[in-house]
Amino acid sequence: MTMPSRIKIVEVGPRDGLQNESSPVSVAEKINLINLLCESGLQAIETGSFVSPRHVPQMADSAEVYAGLNKDNGVTYQVLVPNQRGYTDAQAAGVKEIAVFAAVTETFSQKNIGCSIDESIKRFIEITGNALQHGIKVRGYLSCVLGCPYEGEVSPDVVARLTQQLLEAGCYEVSLGDTIGIGTAGSTAMLLQCLHRHKIDPAQLAMHCHDTYGQAISNVLVALQHGVATIDASVSGLGGCPFAPGASGNVATEDVVYMLNGLGIEHGVDLPRLIKAGSYISAVLKRDTQSSVARALAAKPC
Ligand code: HMG
Ligand code: MG
Repeated sequence: MTMPSRIKIVEVGPRDGLQNESSPVSVAEKINLINLLCESGLQAIETGSFVSPRHVPQMADSAEVYAGLNKDNGVTYQVLVPNQRGYTDAQAAGVKEIAVFAAVTETFSQKNIGCSIDESIKRFIEITGNALQHGIKVRGYLSCVLGCPYEGEVSPDVVARLTQQLLEAGCYEVSLGDTIGIGTAGSTAMLLQCLHRHKIDPAQLAMHCHDTYGQAISNVLVALQHGVATIDASVSGLGGCPFAPGASGNVATEDVVYMLNGLGIEHGVDLPRLIKAGSYISAVLKRDTQSSVARALAAKPC
């Protein structure tokens, strides 16, 4: 299959990146980060989650963050919603796009959102129906598509069935989460070939890679080679899931952009401006960037 000529990057740093941080990040700092990401040309940014503050305190200020964002710049801001309460709160905040998130293993589903896979799908069918009636777009996530921290290997056929269920529920796309970053080029290819056999259109898929084993950028390349044209990434390689022990950050957006530049694939993001956003959040977190590209460019003599 030929690679897509244009890629949409979904920036998940302000949500996936910051949901796992032990040091507090203020509402103003989150808004500054999102504004810098917008200035880099990113068109889709996950800005927070309407989840239980008891389970994920880092996201408790998501409504405040959303309220402070510039809504006139054409950028799509997405927020995670785990249940009806989260949907009601997100709708009250005025969001135009939500993401529902299921898992492909029972243990992860219970640990992450406190219900079985079937219950979660039923819940998300209802929420998606309501959201679409109110003109709110819905993206779907599946976690642990290449392996689970609790149950180990997962069946690609199960991933295919759940992907179809989320698409039938009305999600416009399903993001395939390698939550613990365990996948390889080989297992990513096998999964995408399985979804192809199940007649799932790659135009309705996104790839969401964590980099625990250093495989994320090669797994993204494999996704492109299988026609996937939406890639989730996190500025500075921030990220992790509080319910996936040992999982590291997402593939760094800077590294994805650098690779796409090398492949001559359009993406609309300005790398120096993106690096500025990464430097900003790294300074806030008092931590070095996890992006190899940002590090290499910073070390390059002028
Ligand atoms: P629960 O404790 O089972 O909820 O949590 P409950 O329905 O029993 O309610 C308990 C209390 O929480 C009640 O309050 C509810 O009102 C409140 P009380 O009566 O005790 O005062 N509550 C809420 N408050 C605010 N917002 C809500 C909400 N719902 C209930 N939405 C729940 C169930 C789903 C809420 C919880 O498990 C939860 O919040 N889970 C979210 C976990 C999460 O955010 N995980 C990380 C994101 S997923 C991820 O990172 C993977 C991804 O990146 C892809 C990948 O990498 O694979 C997407
Ligand atoms: Mg993630």
